[in-house]
Amino acid sequence: MGLRDLAAAADLEIGASATAAELDDASAALLGGEFNRLATENDLKWGAVRPEREVFEFDAADRLVAFAERNDMAVTGHALVWHVETPDWLRGLGADELAAELRTHVRRLTGRYDGRIDTWDVVNEAVADDGTLRESLWYEQLGERYVADAFRWAAGETDADLFYNDYGLPYNERKRERVYRLLEGLLERGVPVDGVGLQLHCVGVHPTPEQLRGTVRRFRELGLEVRVTELDVAYRIGEAPEDLAAVQAEYYRAVVGACLDAGVGSVTLWGVTDDRSWVTSWRDYPERYTGQPLLFDGEGREKPSYDAVASVLRERGRD
Ligand code: XIL
Repeated sequence: MGLRDLAAAADLEIGASATAAELDDASAALLGGEFNRLATENDLKWGAVRPEREVFEFDAADRLVAFAERNDMAVTGHALVWHVETPDWLRGLGADELAAELRTHVRRLTGRYDGRIDTWDVVNEAVADDGTLRESLWYEQLGERYVADAFRWAAGETDADLFYNDYGLPYNERKRERVYRLLEGLLERGVPVDGVGLQLHCVGVHPTPEQLRGTVRRFRELGLEVRVTELDVAYRIGEAPEDLAAVQAEYYRAVVGACLDAGVGSVTLWGVTDDRSWVTSWRDYPERYTGQPLLFDGEGREKPSYDAVASVLRERGRD
């Protein structure tokens, strides 16, 4: 039995991110066979969809959504507002124009895929590591209100679940509490937020399963759904254990077990095979981190981490 069937028996959704370019790879069979949620890794980011102001480029995302439908997978659209991978032309706009472009963008994307994309990462990484609102293009020009606006505009066009997504929340208390207050304030004002996505790009043994359980509990106090949206497990070069594959497998087992304990209903890996992981190509990451963070190796073979996830799902699954 593959992961998606084991996960379903344990009342969990198991996803992976992908780009349309990967649909031509051998790994596409793993994506469709092992996972029941697909996150659009890059193809719905501003830079991909809006290379120029007048252009909306949907071919890649359309292919991903069609692939997901053929393989009976749910789709997470990622992401409507982020400070990275924004096209240069956005930087030349004044506040009113920028707000109008954001409104158009959010409405157009959510409207286009209504009924086909069931979850959106509406706002990604709006809070900085020091617990202040991140000084992004969006914040500097529009102030805090861009967050509420993006959720409202999205809700006007789609019935999809609308998520706030961020990294570091289980171990960075200042950041977590700022995100908590941000979301609490939105909910008090009736802004349609459905959930929080924990990115969970893990390094070494962080976060601990206890930190993860505590963070899930904290956000669920707000009545929000909590999902793990971008799971992978890397090690700092120089600190990597000799038996990396076995240590990583144990950690994966603990993390997925903690998710199940805490009532997380959806866990998405950030990629399928190690060779295509962002950890192997992002900025200076290749010099800092070991590059085998996922469940399948570069040849698409199941790693011990795959077996560990499968076994924890099997243990927790219904008979
Ligand atoms: C990464 C992709 O995986 C890379 O392919 C791309 O070059 C950069 O972005 N947090 C996020 C994701 O929310 O969008 C990022 O994805 C990884 C960190």
